[in-house]
Amino acid sequence: WIGFHTKMAEGTLPFDDDQKGIQDQVVIKFSHVVAENTPKGLAAQRFANRVNEKSNGQIKIEVIPNGGLYSDQEELEALQRGDVHMIAPATTKLSSFSPKWQVLDLPYAMPTSESIIEALNGDIGSTLLQSLEEKDMKGLTLWINGFKQITTNDGSVVHPDDLKGQNLRIMPSSVLENQFDQVGAKAVGLDFNDTYRLLESGELNGEENTISNIYSKKFFDVQSHLTISNHGFLGYAVIMNDEFWSNLTKKQQRIITEALDEASRWNQTQSFAMNDEQLALIERNSSIDIHYLTKEEKREWANRWEPVYRAFKNEIGDDLLSKMIQLRD
Ligand code: LMR
Repeated sequence: WIGFHTKMAEGTLPFDDDQKGIQDQVVIKFSHVVAENTPKGLAAQRFANRVNEKSNGQIKIEVIPNGGLYSDQEELEALQRGDVHMIAPATTKLSSFSPKWQVLDLPYAMPTSESIIEALNGDIGSTLLQSLEEKDMKGLTLWINGFKQITTNDGSVVHPDDLKGQNLRIMPSSVLENQFDQVGAKAVGLDFNDTYRLLESGELNGEENTISNIYSKKFFDVQSHLTISNHGFLGYAVIMNDEFWSNLTKKQQRIITEALDEASRWNQTQSFAMNDEQLALIERNSSIDIHYLTKEEKREWANRWEPVYRAFKNEIGDDLLSKMIQLRD
């Protein structure tokens, strides 16, 4: 364990006692891969501050952003080993543990912010979080980043065929690979924090991500075209190592849960606005060409991607898929 706290008997409330010193402080390392000025980065910091206040400094959440501790490909295994206590990977990255998570990656599955919030706060979200228990992970909550957009260096992307032959960076995911297969692009699952370099060097033509990630990692500096497609969802599962969670006292668990609820409420109300504000900054301060897909153009992409739903029907399961389609339609 990194920074594992002094062992305390289950049920005791060590920080009720003012005489207890720093030696009883619980240190929770929370690693994530994005910048601080993002929906995830800010929610993580708010959560850490609230835990600190609520526990009178007896629980310390150490947030390590920008992949400073682990890359996105490493962090899940590090959590399972217990080398880090807490992470918030993109839900996409959980599909290798449980294919059900792929339901959130289906293109145009959640076309509005309301449908995203409904999916995450409802049955779909709770089914997915519970599925982590089989993998010795404690799924605590779900956070939102926003809608994914497309950036490239090879002309304007308006119609699906405009992506033909392009090399794109995606998060490792069969759904996302299939999604870009359908339009003749070659998509490769790569580390988030390698993306800028690979775009800059020309090894990749483009990528898909939210405005918040495009802005904070400056992808707009190394891309010529941005298409506002809102074609996919990017959000996060906030997870703790199961054994670490079970070793916390009931009171510690309550403080963490309450602080997370507050951070999640903040995240759900602010994430879309943050993406909008950062899009306005990109528009104002960069020369990237921006195209907003029209309703008709979006329909063209959605029709082209309908086969993705059929391809993953069995892996996702009828129950979850039909709940998602109900939300979509
Ligand atoms: C990505 O890899 O593009 C995202 O998962 C990064 C993130 O955590 O938002």
